[in-house]
Amino acid sequence: MVLNNVSIKPYNTFGVDVKAKYFAVVDHPAQIQDLLNSIKFKHLPVFLLGGGSNILFTKDFDGLVLKVNIKGISHDFVGENEVVVNAGAGEDWSNLVEYCVNHGWGGLENLSFIPGTVGAAPIQNIGAYGIELKDVFSYLEALDLKSFETRRFTLPGCNFGYRNSIFKSDLKDCFLITSVSLKLSVKPEPNLTYPALSGELQDTGEKITIRNIADAVIRIRRSKLPDPEILGNAGSFFKNPVVDPAKFNALKSANPAIPSFLQPDGSVKIPAAWLIEQGGWKGKRYGDAGVHEKQPLVLVNYGQASGLQLLELAARIKDDVFNRFQIILDTEVNIL
Ligand code: EPU
Repeated sequence: MVLNNVSIKPYNTFGVDVKAKYFAVVDHPAQIQDLLNSIKFKHLPVFLLGGGSNILFTKDFDGLVLKVNIKGISHDFVGENEVVVNAGAGEDWSNLVEYCVNHGWGGLENLSFIPGTVGAAPIQNIGAYGIELKDVFSYLEALDLKSFETRRFTLPGCNFGYRNSIFKSDLKDCFLITSVSLKLSVKPEPNLTYPALSGELQDTGEKITIRNIADAVIRIRRSKLPDPEILGNAGSFFKNPVVDPAKFNALKSANPAIPSFLQPDGSVKIPAAWLIEQGGWKGKRYGDAGVHEKQPLVLVNYGQASGLQLLELAARIKDDVFNRFQIILDTEVNIL
């Protein structure tokens, strides 16, 4: 059923109040073609919405917002060590991780408690605590929004990068992801490469399980990141910038305390949180638009902030970081 003039406030974790001219929920891929091919919607802009946890709406949407609610989880064992888990795009990501951890299937535990849906996860190649979606990815199925044919994308076809994929670049808005399949291990090996995670896991002398890891990740996230149910936000608002070694050496001599993570190709990733913190932005607030007091990479809505007010705050932060470090911060959140 298509509804008219619907407030999107309950459907975006920033809690920004904008309206969609039309709004529909799809539970099955077969509904999509009929809907989008109908005379009424054929020529209107369409916005595909998952959990609304990585989007900032700055104005009303004069088209059709399609909430993808395709459900279902199944699995196939592959040999003795592997299981491929297939999940509908509308499944909640955190629930899927819990489901896998409870079955003893390893690979997703470091990605616990990330808000959003399964279908949105590959678009920005979600990542946390030393793992990215691409590390466990098998394939996904997606509907071509022009021909309405289903296409399967395997790892090389997705062009995954840091918070990036082909669905955010060359094929942006061309496909609707209907399901995602992940390759997990029935004999899990913990990944404790991320220092904050290994620090959180107390050395009890006992073997660390994927349950221990999931619980530790949930504890860290709860302690640092605001709960969108309580304080509107969309996680990291900016990406961590990556600079070449020459630029990094110059920054390091001017700022000896600058934290850094060397990348496999020799470039250096710098925590945007640190760059922002240097300008004293932690906990700053303009009306209801603010910077989170514990993690300055996260912008928050204290209640009635508009998308434009949050965007204005982001612009001030970007200017300040550029003036201090000559680094241009890229937004991680999609802006509409
Ligand atoms: N830092 C500061 N000040 C702070 C917080 C952090 O200087 O207030 C510096 C510290 O040097 C710290 C470093 O930033 O060591 C990294 O901080 P943190 O572990 O909190 O991670 P992050 O780089 O800020 C990234 C992701 C998060 C993900 C965490 C954990 C991006 C844009 N963000 O944040 O992802 O949960 O790592 O892996 O890559 C998201 O994408 O929405 C998200 C929350």
